[in-house]
Amino acid sequence: MQKPSPRSSTIGALPENTLRIPHPYGIADAQRFITGVTASSGETVFLIVRRDDTVLGACGVAERPGDSPELGYWLAFAFWGNGYATEAARAVIDYAFDDLGYEMLHAGARASNPASRRVLEKCGFEWTGVELYRIRSLASSAPFDRFRLERRRWMRARQQRGAKPGAV
Ligand SMILES: CC(C)(COP(=O)(O)OP(=O)(O)OC[C@H]1O[C@@H](n2cnc3c(N)ncnc32)[C@H](O)[C@@H]1OP(=O)(O)O)[C@@H](O)C(=O)NCCC(=O)NCCS
Repeated sequence: MQKPSPRSSTIGALPENTLRIPHPYGIADAQRFITGVTASSGETVFLIVRRDDTVLGACGVAERPGDSPELGYWLAFAFWGNGYATEAARAVIDYAFDDLGYEMLHAGARASNPASRRVLEKCGFEWTGVELYRIRSLASSAPFDRFRLERRRWMRARQQRGAKPGAV
């Protein structure tokens, strides 16, 4: 499969596929992101780091008022297509269910982003419909496929994979 080219982002994360990543992305944006993720922000974010200490991207869960938390992830373009997002998402889902005690997770993938949809499918998420979401970097809205994953379903799938909690 041919890789898509990174069209608009210097970090190659294609911010137009994410809801919140601004473009262009400056130092002040990075500072706001880092200082915004605090113990009280309801958001847990992990850096995705390879064994050689290369930082590949990030994956996390964010609580939402009146709804189940949302899983999100991005990888720098150079590292796409190696299974890293799926591996990271599975580890964070384990953490969300085992350590944070959530019963359900939601996630979304822009309708034009099949790689992200596939990551969610590989993690066992179920499609629930399509909704319009505002994309910060575009200052416009686009349709997103919406997914959910119930704790029970995840536990069953994990058992079937023979994976231990936290292992992938
Ligand atoms: C989406 C993203 C996280 C995927 O990361 P990744 O590490 O390449 O993902 P993985 O390798 O774990 O899995 C990608 C899957 O999508 C498939 N895929 C990739 N491009 C595809 C395409 N154009 N059409 C269909 N499937 C595609 C891959 O083959 C793979 O599936 P497989 O294991 O069954 O072969 C990465 O592309 C990214 O960071 N994009 C920009 C930000 C973003 O979109 N974040 C998600 C916001 S919802």
